Amino acid sequence: MPLPAFDTPLIFAMGQEGRANRYLPRGPQLDTLLPAETLRDDLPLPDNSELDVVRHFTRLSQKTFGIDTAFYPLGSCTMKYNPRINDAMANVPALRDAHPFAPDAAAQGPLAVMWELERALASLFGMAAFSLNPAAGAHAELAALLIAKAYFKKIGQPQRNVVIVPDTAHGTNPASAAMVGFKVVSLKSDAQGRVDPDEMRKVAGPDTAVCMMTNPNTLGLFESRIHEVADVVHEAGGLMYYDGANANALMGNTRPGDMGFDLMHLNLHKTFTIPHGGGGAGAGPVGVAAHLIPFLPTPVVRAFDAEGTAVDASGWRDSGEFTFALDFDRPDSIGPMRSFWSNFAHMVRALAYTYANGGEGLTNVSKLAVLNANYIRVNITDVVDIPYPEINRHEFVASAQSLKRETGVRALDIGKALLDRGYHAPTVYFPLIVPECLMIEPTETESKETLDAFIAAFREIVATARANPEAVLATPINTAVGRIDETRAARQPDLRWHP
Ligand SMILES: Cc1ncc(COP(=O)(O)O)c(C=O)c1O
Repeated sequence: MPLPAFDTPLIFAMGQEGRANRYLPRGPQLDTLLPAETLRDDLPLPDNSELDVVRHFTRLSQKTFGIDTAFYPLGSCTMKYNPRINDAMANVPALRDAHPFAPDAAAQGPLAVMWELERALASLFGMAAFSLNPAAGAHAELAALLIAKAYFKKIGQPQRNVVIVPDTAHGTNPASAAMVGFKVVSLKSDAQGRVDPDEMRKVAGPDTAVCMMTNPNTLGLFESRIHEVADVVHEAGGLMYYDGANANALMGNTRPGDMGFDLMHLNLHKTFTIPHGGGGAGAGPVGVAAHLIPFLPTPVVRAFDAEGTAVDASGWRDSGEFTFALDFDRPDSIGPMRSFWSNFAHMVRALAYTYANGGEGLTNVSKLAVLNANYIRVNITDVVDIPYPEINRHEFVASAQSLKRETGVRALDIGKALLDRGYHAPTVYFPLIVPECLMIEPTETESKETLDAFIAAFREIVATARANPEAVLATPINTAVGRIDETRAARQPDLRWHP
């Protein structure tokens, strides 16, 4: 049964004095359990009954939209199913209860997990080594650019202070570059939505430090001339950085390392099915080519054979043969990006996903992700503009520009109307180079029935827009919250509860 809008007051506005259940009344019994100084009467906590509290939070949870609720085609975010086996493995007591201060000898299991995941990612993406230390994609971008900066300082080229970023890039790319003190130069894509090596040649030079690229790019298009682009940047003395946010499109089928990238990140909450943390704990491994290994964040997990000789980290190896240690003594390292073992449970989840699928399974993941995206594109191509009408990868962009001209209904309105029909909205107005952009990424975990239902809903919304645009402009009407002033909400957020 749909919940009426705005029916849930804040918990602070609910309750009556004396209503809270107290299983242990104040007195000697409670005092033996909790030291008196931890019991405070001055906190303005609401006096609610247990039943009301349970109902309150259950109703709130029903208003939350997540991947477990319904289809979530949020482009560039890879909102795919998080298999429950991942959580079961993260909950294995030996891994769950391991203390991050445990000496290496007592932490061989967790260190083996980290080492195996690093090795698996390195062989899947063609990198010499990975560090699991950063806590998100953007955090890993920051780590990679710090690595680049340290590298150029080390080789005596600190004047390299420019980062080249194509105009299709995610906003975190220029932001990360600016945070590390680099100057950002934007590169215009060509008419086919790709980076042109000749344009790159005009901007790459003695001040180039890094070129940051997403491949497939945020238009869902594979950068088919990536080798030429990488050659231009390398000839100029710069490094190539791969933004792995779209790795779900190529995992197991082609590797950034083979395309000429020297640095990369992955978002484990995308391709490797750990939960999207909603701003909470995430994981963004950073990968490097061999010449950049000394600069990786500390600590680095190292493996030793039975004779105590350090094992070369390249290539896949079964961790069963080795003992492991954390190496903090790395003079060229950029230092830790995160304390302790970073978000270790996510590493367990990602490794569980990797093993559950195996090499062939992971290869099929990206094939199906690409198939699903193209299936939707082909089935809405006659009702909405498709600015780049070709086989795309795991996501594609549509444009509501013609629809807006004819009916006044914009990309934003299509997104709102989809909410009313039980779908999460696609990403809208990104990438910036496509007007009235809708970026749709279905992922491989959706069934054909779900894709067909989404296509039908999308087509019905466009048909409604043509017949009766007001009906679309009035949406959403079935959600807990209707249209809000989004600009004001972003610029003047008021998050305080006013009694
Ligand atoms: C292309 C691209 N790069 C980088 C990021 C940043 O990743 P994170 O959200 O893990 O910080 C995203 C996130 O959506 C992205 O889509």
